[in-house]
Amino acid sequence: MDTVLSGIRSTGNLHLGNYFGAVKNFVKMQHENRCYFFVADYHALTTHPTPENLHKNIRTVISEYLAAGLDPEVATLYIQSDVPEISELYLLLNMNAYVGELERTTTFKDKIRKQPENINAGLLTYPVLMCADIIIHNADKVPVGKDQEQNLEMARKFARRFNHMYGVEYFKMPEPYNFGEELVKVPGLDGTGKMGKSEGNGIYLSDEPSAIRKKVMRAVTDAGPQEPNSPMTEPIANLFYLLDLLSTPDTVQHFRDSYNNCTIRYGDLKKQLAEDVITFTTPIRERINDIHNDSEYLRKVVKMGAEKARESASKTVREVREIIGYKPF
Ligand code: ADP
Ligand code: TRP
Repeated sequence: MDTVLSGIRSTGNLHLGNYFGAVKNFVKMQHENRCYFFVADYHALTTHPTPENLHKNIRTVISEYLAAGLDPEVATLYIQSDVPEISELYLLLNMNAYVGELERTTTFKDKIRKQPENINAGLLTYPVLMCADIIIHNADKVPVGKDQEQNLEMARKFARRFNHMYGVEYFKMPEPYNFGEELVKVPGLDGTGKMGKSEGNGIYLSDEPSAIRKKVMRAVTDAGPQEPNSPMTEPIANLFYLLDLLSTPDTVQHFRDSYNNCTIRYGDLKKQLAEDVITFTTPIRERINDIHNDSEYLRKVVKMGAEKARESASKTVREVREIIGYKPF
């Protein structure tokens, strides 16, 4: 059984892209692997959130992942800052991470561009903390998006360097994991490109039905098919992509047929799509609200997660300390 681990950014709500691209797979994987999922709230400090925002974001993220189907009894779901062993391993790993290589990391260079007024050392050593996150549980597989692949490569480099430096085979090399055939790229409704937070085109799991209707009805379309069986332009293909994800096969077939015989009315398609999105998100939205308001349940979940995570993390740190030469008298 593989150990799978993923860190969750504690910014923003989940949109359909996050759900179908990542979270849905986590929900499935938790039953087939030893899974660790955590809210990366130490990493979040690199952008200097206010204490209120930091706390609010953690609560939101945990509530949404639980509502989407992560089972805290099955997977280990925890908050990074509840596991102080991670910060100790981070400190130890920092001694063998070189400033030059950290400065060359793409995510660091991006951040310099995005927040030139706050180029803190936490940003520079972000890949070291990420490495600590991963190897503290000796994870085999790390599901990450494209933008995080270099950080994962750095994690392997630091793990390998540790093994080499102390002549041990202690850490495994964590591999990036993409969901293979199930890999989906959820498009936005603005004609081209993907759905994303930074793209500003997200349909969120927590969106009220009225907001969803508004967003879907504003979707970009074209002038309509000019002759039977014409190829679809990107905006229309994107609408069908979402329909495929969310509607019944009959509905999809109905609109495909009416596209192919040129009788399609995009307004009808959008109306149907909006209702199908709402049918899909409503139970999740209701669960998000219930969980978000249930402090007792949330306390129980994070306590259980922290206990499970610390059991594995403290064992690693104890052994690493010994390997480095911190031994009892
Ligand atoms: P955003 O693009 O909204 O900033 P993130 O980069 O935080 O989202 O996404 C976290 C994960 O969600 C990504 O690693 C990826 O697996 C998944 N994801 C995000 N957007 C999409 C999308 N449009 N289609 C498929 N998967 C996505
Ligand atoms: N850096 C990741 C992101 O921005 C989040 C993250 C932190 C992470 N630690 C991790 C992901 C460890 C995988 C493994 O999305």
